[in-house]
Amino acid sequence: MNRNLALEFIRVTEIAALNAARWMGRGDEKAADQAAVDGMRKMLDTVECQGVVVIGEGERDEAPMLYIGEKVGTGNGPEIEIALDPLEGTTICAQGGNNAIAVMAIGSKDCLLNAPDIYMKKIAVGPAGVGAIDIQDKATNNLKRLAQRKGCSLGDLTAIILDRPRHKELIQEVRDCGARIYLIGDGDVSAAIATALPSTGIDIMIGTGGAPEGVIAAAAMKCIKGDFQGILVPRNDDDIERAKRMGIEDINRVYSMEELAKGDVMFVATGVTDGSLLKGVQFRPGGASTHSIIMRSRSGTIRHITADHHFDRKPVY
Ligand code: FBP
Repeated sequence: MNRNLALEFIRVTEIAALNAARWMGRGDEKAADQAAVDGMRKMLDTVECQGVVVIGEGERDEAPMLYIGEKVGTGNGPEIEIALDPLEGTTICAQGGNNAIAVMAIGSKDCLLNAPDIYMKKIAVGPAGVGAIDIQDKATNNLKRLAQRKGCSLGDLTAIILDRPRHKELIQEVRDCGARIYLIGDGDVSAAIATALPSTGIDIMIGTGGAPEGVIAAAAMKCIKGDFQGILVPRNDDDIERAKRMGIEDINRVYSMEELAKGDVMFVATGVTDGSLLKGVQFRPGGASTHSIIMRSRSGTIRHITADHHFDRKPVY
């Protein structure tokens, strides 16, 4: 994959973030998401590639734009697969909270798992925790191994967990073993990445969230040399059917980071609202600034890009 593509994709997440950020705190999740989708879709077609959306806004009959299987890009250049979320954290954005991002993971053909839009049990750690996690094991044992690897006590560890009723037992187990918890309302892609950023004080992400977000997070964790594992969690026969339609035969399979995001992958994100990874969009008269990150698994390079946008010289997306 041409490394310069990464810089092209930054423009795509920038536009999605600029559009969504207009809706920050305005209580309208749909409008925020739609604005991000519109911007991302239009900008994607300027990128010199033969792209296919493998993770997007839903199946073709559910989403008019950025649906799974949609072809994007100019139609020239490398064949690539794209897993995208124009606004990861729609509720966060609508409520003006932290960590809403516009995000994409890019891989060569057949690299990114075509995950159905169902739940996935996930576990993620930063580089210091590689080798310590096993998603099939109890949270307590994962925390014990992580503490050993980090040379700290269980009480020094902080687990980030989505605040959901389905996590009641998990939260109790983590509390019982003495670790600290950071509960979040939404946004488990940023949460997974937070485990690799020492400044966040987060050591591990555990719990069940969206499977599409799991694939995007796995690509990011691969670039930062952390670890990630996932298992699909169907809630009913319809979920199992969805998975089958996407070519998944063994619903109980444990996916390693490498199986979710094979080969050479890139991760690109722009902050919509302020967060642990990225600053949010800041508007000023006639323009705005954005903060983005690009990571490549092959080189391990992580670039932070701050951009000043001038609306009088920019096409409207
Ligand atoms: P959206 O941006 O699509 O709203 O997703 C936000 C999110 O919190 C994800 O980060 C997470 O994986 C998923 O929703 C959890 O799903 P649910 O809200 O159903 O528990």
